[in-house]
Amino acid sequence: ASVNLRIEPTDRVIGAIAHGFDLARVPKGDELERLEDALEAYGVLVIPNQHHATPAQQIAFSRALGPLELSDMEAALMPGHPEIFVVGNIGKKRVTFSPADDLGELEWHSDHIHLKVRARASLLLARAVPPVGGDTLFACMYSAYDALNAEQQSAYQHLNVVNDVSGLDAYLAEQGLDADAGDGDLVAPAVWPLVRTHPRSGRKALYFGNQVSVDVVGWPRDRTKAFIAELTAHACRPAFRYRHRWQTGDAVLWDNRRVLHAGTPYELNGPAREMHRTTIREIEPTH
Ligand code: OGA
Ligand code: MN
Repeated sequence: ASVNLRIEPTDRVIGAIAHGFDLARVPKGDELERLEDALEAYGVLVIPNQHHATPAQQIAFSRALGPLELSDMEAALMPGHPEIFVVGNIGKKRVTFSPADDLGELEWHSDHIHLKVRARASLLLARAVPPVGGDTLFACMYSAYDALNAEQQSAYQHLNVVNDVSGLDAYLAEQGLDADAGDGDLVAPAVWPLVRTHPRSGRKALYFGNQVSVDVVGWPRDRTKAFIAELTAHACRPAFRYRHRWQTGDAVLWDNRRVLHAGTPYELNGPAREMHRTTIREIEPTH
């Protein structure tokens, strides 16, 4: 059967609408290649109108991109489908990646950066969306790297960053939210180079999180803090962003190797926000 696939770029430096894909149909062959190419080229792909997809179909679709990784927040795994991590303000455990209100700092991150096995890509399907708030921001880390001056580019190649869940817990506590970002505190922090080369494009991208990256190896903590704050302002500037305003049924697939993302505020005790995430494991070499 021939399907009509069409990639419609946004007017931002990242992001595209991927028309014609269906979470209920596992992509194979040319269709999978189109998806991989578009994911690499645009960093963030919106696949609209996926209300009909079941959890099992979301899992099967995601597996076409690689093996899945479970979240370490056990209370947020979907019963019967632990590959689905339930994010939002519903269920047994509220899982949020958003500041408590408009004055709160964003939490820019790449999924599973604080773990030994990182997330190559994530797929988030909106099941319930509040009328106000809860947009998700994405920022292009190719643009962020390319916009550094030559000296910064060569200096940053040598920096290694310590990514620790304690940084996320501190952020949540500051926002007055449950200070539990998962069991990452049971494992040693993950140290990754600040600059990584994308295995598909060969392009360089910055790789850090503004709350989770707590140390630059060999630096005092206050120097790291100032550096990460400046780096965030540089890398996640509005010109490098795509902002996704969710509609129910939107599936958004992003490449954690070349974009950062951050949630925006919504009412935690308000209308339901229910998002289902599948997480595709990193299987490429670690640099
Ligand atoms: C995530 C995440 C942001 C949001 O699910 O990994 O960061 O807006 N979500 O819910
Ligand atoms: Mn995330």
